[in-house]
Amino acid sequence: MGRLRIRNHGKIQAELRVQGSKNSSLPCLAAALLHSGTTVLDGVPMIEDVRTAIGILRALGTQVTVEGSRVTVCAHEITCTEIPPGFMRKMRSSVIFLGAMLARTGEAKAVYPGGCVLGSRPIDFHLEGFRRLGCEVNLREEIIEVRSCGMSGAVIRLPFSSVGATENLLLAAAGAQGTTVIENAAREPEIVELSRLLMRMGVDVRGAGTSRIAICGRAAVRDVCFSMSGDRIVAGTWLLCCMNAGGTICLERAPVQWMQSTLEVLGRMGAVIRTEGMVVECSAPERILPVSYLETAPYPGFPTDMQSQFLPVLSGAQGDSCICETVFSSRFRIVSELERMGADIEVSDDLTRARIRGGKRLHGTAVTAPDLRGGAALIIAAMGAEGDTVIDDFYHIERGYECIADTIRLLGGDACWIV
Ligand code: EPZ
Repeated sequence: MGRLRIRNHGKIQAELRVQGSKNSSLPCLAAALLHSGTTVLDGVPMIEDVRTAIGILRALGTQVTVEGSRVTVCAHEITCTEIPPGFMRKMRSSVIFLGAMLARTGEAKAVYPGGCVLGSRPIDFHLEGFRRLGCEVNLREEIIEVRSCGMSGAVIRLPFSSVGATENLLLAAAGAQGTTVIENAAREPEIVELSRLLMRMGVDVRGAGTSRIAICGRAAVRDVCFSMSGDRIVAGTWLLCCMNAGGTICLERAPVQWMQSTLEVLGRMGAVIRTEGMVVECSAPERILPVSYLETAPYPGFPTDMQSQFLPVLSGAQGDSCICETVFSSRFRIVSELERMGADIEVSDDLTRARIRGGKRLHGTAVTAPDLRGGAALIIAAMGAEGDTVIDDFYHIERGYECIADTIRLLGGDACWIV
């Protein structure tokens, strides 16, 4: 389904259970390849990117069954070492399967990955890491071929704490002889989650959540049943919906300990936040306060995956705000769509900063989702806007958010598909 019409009916009074984490589920699904037995993952969100990951696993020869949010992968046999191009081009995370394939079979072939357009997204750190583990990496035209005649542990220092490269190298290192140390590793919760799964499988991983991770490879891995945590970015998205529409929202299964920077900014904007265990409740203020300066940064900093969603809310604040994007080179493509709804946002010539002029009441119109989180920002905008908003290219949003129309209805809005 391509287009969704959204209309809001005022303040939100809702309770929601947060879906499982996309960015944890994807590498954990890839990790199932390490093991010739069975891996069971619970709490996996049924979203397009997960369907793509399951498609890759099946294409490589594994048996995958899905019951609700439980995914069972039996990887007795790997029948193919090439990830089909159609899947590679659908999402960035498909590249993580290279590391897992190397660990399992010693070879992997794929085209360059697709995914959200957020500026240049090279994979040089991943490939250099494979080389450091002793692999031969051949690149011709679009094709990446990686081969090893026995990987050995190495010290790999990442030039930037890339989430994907850390995951890929963790997975590959699980198949290397000896210890691999990843320096300047990403500290994101998704790395912690993947490492927990690997440890449950029997791999010795130390230091996950810090910038130095050590992995001891070639462990005898075992069957495992593992539960995914709630999605910190999806949870943040629904909190911002409430900020824009007004009212109160209560989220269950929210990974509160991993949402601190988002909750802190919401507090600065005047939200009343209460947390208890994995429950977070947010009440929107009558007047939203502007944020003079906010900068995205790797975890535990303010997440780049949340900045788009703040733009429509800050447009309604009582003054001007500024957001600086430091992780990706071009992540303000949503601005032109929000401007069609009445926002006034100026993006700097080098595309790193957005100045958001406050005091704007957004109005519904026809808009197009440019990427996943930009699309989420349009849902938030629609929930606070006057009149109907029709969001085109909705598939971008379905890559990361489950049952969106039902959730919007739960929040008190109307949502109807236009065919
Ligand atoms: C992950 O992407 C997430 N995706 C992204 O979420 C998230 O925005 C990003 O991490 C940062 O937190 C998944 O987990 C599936 P990076 P990833 O490698 O791994 C540069 C969402 O909306 N870089 O940490 O691709 C890169 O260009 C998505 O859910 C290199 O230069 O991000 C970027 O500027 C979007 N060479 C920076 O590092 C490399 O080899 C961070 O990228 C790798 C990365």
